[in-house]
Amino acid sequence: MRGWVRVLADHGLQVVVQLLVDRFAASECEEQYGREVIDADGYFGENIAATYDESTADMSRPDVVGPAVDLLAELAGSGPALELGIGTGRIALPLAGRGVPVHGIDTSRAMVDRLRAKPGGDAIDVTIGDFASTRVEKSFSVAYPVFNTIMNLTSQDAQVHCFRNVAAHLAPGGCFVVEVMVPELRKLPAGQNAVPFHISESRWAFDTYDVATQAMNSNYVTITDGRAEHWSIPFRYIWSAELDLMARLAGLRLRDRWQDWTREPFTSESGKHVSVWKKPVG
Ligand SMILES: C[S@@+](CC[C@H](N)C(=O)[O-])C[C@H]1O[C@@H](n2cnc3c(N)ncnc32)[C@H](O)[C@@H]1O
Repeated sequence: MRGWVRVLADHGLQVVVQLLVDRFAASECEEQYGREVIDADGYFGENIAATYDESTADMSRPDVVGPAVDLLAELAGSGPALELGIGTGRIALPLAGRGVPVHGIDTSRAMVDRLRAKPGGDAIDVTIGDFASTRVEKSFSVAYPVFNTIMNLTSQDAQVHCFRNVAAHLAPGGCFVVEVMVPELRKLPAGQNAVPFHISESRWAFDTYDVATQAMNSNYVTITDGRAEHWSIPFRYIWSAELDLMARLAGLRLRDRWQDWTREPFTSESGKHVSVWKKPVG
């Protein structure tokens, strides 16, 4: 049994993850575990983009993508859609395949290059920029960030700006759709700040939470030939009630909230939600 796996078996997940958290908090972190992956493209630079589709393959299964595209196509009707953080086109490409004109915004040229390389990718307009502030001179029936992308905005101000920016892009009656996780604070034992979500011999993944600031980090440790490499991405976690308030500030009103794209009811046990806010017609 390998070292870390033996410790895991002996002491349990939480203890091991706390050891990792403490380890990465140490100043020698970069030297021991490699550089943080940040470049001009943000946190989704070339090295992330190169393996993004492979590492998120589960999220590209037809049973996952299909219901999302169904809902977005229904909300788009005969109008266009705006994807915030379009990435490699996991949702945009099948949505465009349904006849919905899709425009994307993304900071990462590396991710967008992957989209462009796929069949149909060159038919999708993309603006490189920050979706909290970038303007596209067009109005849309539906706008959406999926897969927790709203949490990539790491301040409350940026998230508030994002809602305002979306509202300015929506046609009257248009909808803003957000797919985002419910923060997993119920999984935090007293005195700890880490929630593991993947443990295997070669890969460790865990979120860390700062409940004072709503800052959250997802951490990935990959072990190859006995050497560990660490990648960390910052988020700002957000509750549904705060999202509703941001929507109100932007002049939008909650229309629906489900626990997933298949429109199952959102309950206190739901791990994520798909929320829809509408821009009033008048
Ligand atoms: C988790 S990926 C999601 C990609 C794609 N929507 C999907 O579902 O697979 C997040 C994407 O949002 C982009 N992104 C993150 N923060 C952004 C920001 N502030 N402005 C524009 N794009 C951003 C990243 O570059 C990345 O492509």
